[in-house]
Amino acid sequence: MKYLTPIVSCIVLLGLSACSSQPKVKYNGANLVQKKCASCHNLAMPPKTYEDEKAPPMMAVAFHVKDFMKVKTPSDKKPKFIAFFQDFVLHPSKEKSFCDEESLKSYGLMPSQKGKVTEAELAAIATYVYDYYDQNKFLKQMQKKAKFDALPKGEQLATANGCFNCHDKVKPKTGPSFRAIAQKEDNEIKKVIKEGSKGTWKEFEKAMMPPFKKINDADIETLIAWIKTL
Ligand code: HEC
Ligand code: HEC
Repeated sequence: MKYLTPIVSCIVLLGLSACSSQPKVKYNGANLVQKKCASCHNLAMPPKTYEDEKAPPMMAVAFHVKDFMKVKTPSDKKPKFIAFFQDFVLHPSKEKSFCDEESLKSYGLMPSQKGKVTEAELAAIATYVYDYYDQNKFLKQMQKKAKFDALPKGEQLATANGCFNCHDKVKPKTGPSFRAIAQKEDNEIKKVIKEGSKGTWKEFEKAMMPPFKKINDADIETLIAWIKTL
């Protein structure tokens, strides 16, 4: 029990924040990178790139530091990545930079952020950057987007508006299949999308179709035309 005493008294006497032997500050890498790095590095994934950008997008930084960093085993990668960030951001140099010469010339060397960010904050930033800018995640995201872009416009609208939460193209779900709905008059389909409905279909009388007031007429026409192709 003896070892508990100092901890307990620390909590009781001083409150949690005063237990200085254990740092209680939790750094939030996502917030920190936004606050301390976003003025130069574009954080979007995938990034939009501009002619006059001040620095490579953070995704590019993360991907190529990961790619060019030499490690003996995969498990060394993350700690080494963090250590590189901690060192480079405070003590940048041409020699340390993984940027190719061309980019270094156009961006110029990164100015040291000493005094603006601490090593502990950089550990949190680098951990976040390492996890967030993940090549596989990016690839999956791109594939998902390509798949979405390849869909007919009407199916894109149905996807984006969550119609598939309740409707399947060919099978009944919470609501009737779109193929079954395709038998209905255009005007009725339009009215139901705008105003919602309940009880028209016996098999689905326990559920309801919510109104979608925000879908404009042009998009509704596109949805109807797509439903009719099923
Ligand atoms: C004033 C603008 C500016 C700010 C603020 C800034 N950077 Fe940079 N950074 C640059 C430029 C320019 C480069 C590209 C040239 C180079 O590698 O030095 C760069 C490069 C880097 C690189 C090296 C990339 C490589 O390929 O070797 C890392 C890592 C990096 N920045 C991290 C950060 C982090 C983390 C922050 C926030 C704490 C930050 N930077 C804030 C301008 C900035
Ligand atoms: C929360 C579940 C739910 C969502 C989301 C939903 N629906 Fe429905 N939908 C239903 C149900 C349940 C019915 C059957 C309603 C009835 O019997 O009156 C239905 C019926 C319909 C009908 C049939 C009209 C008729 O008169 O027979 C159309 C058209 C329709 N939905 C289109 C859509 C479209 C387009 C979307 C997306 C914008 C959508 N639904 C989203 C549940 C949903």
